[in-house]
Amino acid sequence: MSDIPSSVKPIVRLKDVSIGYELANPLVTIPDLQIYPGEIVAIAGPSGVGKTTLLRTISGLLQPISGEVEVCEKIFPSKLNRGELGYIPQKLGLIRHASVWHNVMLGANAGHKSAWNIFPSSEARASAMSSISVMGLEQKTNEPIRRLSGGQQRRVATARTLAQCPKIIMADEFLSELDEETMKMVLSATIDYMRKNNSSMLVVEHDITRAKSFADRLLVIDDGRVNPFITETTAMEVKV
Ligand SMILES: Nc1ncnc2c1ncn2[C@@H]1O[C@H](COP(=O)(O)OP(=O)(O)OP(=O)(O)O)[C@@H](O)[C@H]1O
Ligand SMILES: [Mg+2]
Repeated sequence: MSDIPSSVKPIVRLKDVSIGYELANPLVTIPDLQIYPGEIVAIAGPSGVGKTTLLRTISGLLQPISGEVEVCEKIFPSKLNRGELGYIPQKLGLIRHASVWHNVMLGANAGHKSAWNIFPSSEARASAMSSISVMGLEQKTNEPIRRLSGGQQRRVATARTLAQCPKIIMADEFLSELDEETMKMVLSATIDYMRKNNSSMLVVEHDITRAKSFADRLLVIDDGRVNPFITETTAMEVKV
């Protein structure tokens, strides 16, 4: 992005990276990708092309097949500091028998140091309360996850990540299963959070029209090739 001063360092930087599960058969190659503080970058592409795999690789859950993945100025496999990266997985990863509060506190505790390891800090509790509230889940605070609808569970996963106060959010289809009104509420609460904290977001979004409406840039993973590659364009350029 040409309007970003050269003194600003990217939060995420990928150079000549290939990703996938088999050394000899990479799913996607990414020659160059940088995400800067405050940016929202969307990723689209057909089912099975490797979008979730890309998020898992940037999050440090999966080793790249080749190349360098740098997040918050640390190169894989260096560990990120707790709370630096927030991940909203496609499969949510919630503890089903535990309450909304318990699940959101897992994020809050990861992002807020506690003086006592066994007790949550007051900042962590305040952060959990506020993110449960912005996701419209106050009435469900003490409910176990298994008693919530699919859309409510998705909002819990978003609340858990916002409570963590990360510098970058990896969001995998976090707006799926939501009605139009709830989707707008979740999106605007997440963008508000990002603006306040100058955080960045990399979001997998299968609805391209929606991605263009909120993202600064759109990456398309094209599987019309043996080794698909990422084409980059600005949301402004592709708007009709
Ligand atoms: N743990 C794994 N081991 C081996 N192959 C995997 C694993 N997880 C996913 N894959 C394969 O990698 C490919 C890409 O999967 P991925 O989940 O990244 O796709 P996606 O673009 O996120 O798809 P969708 O839009 O359906 O969520 C698929 O062919 C899938 O079967
Ligand atoms: Mg996926």
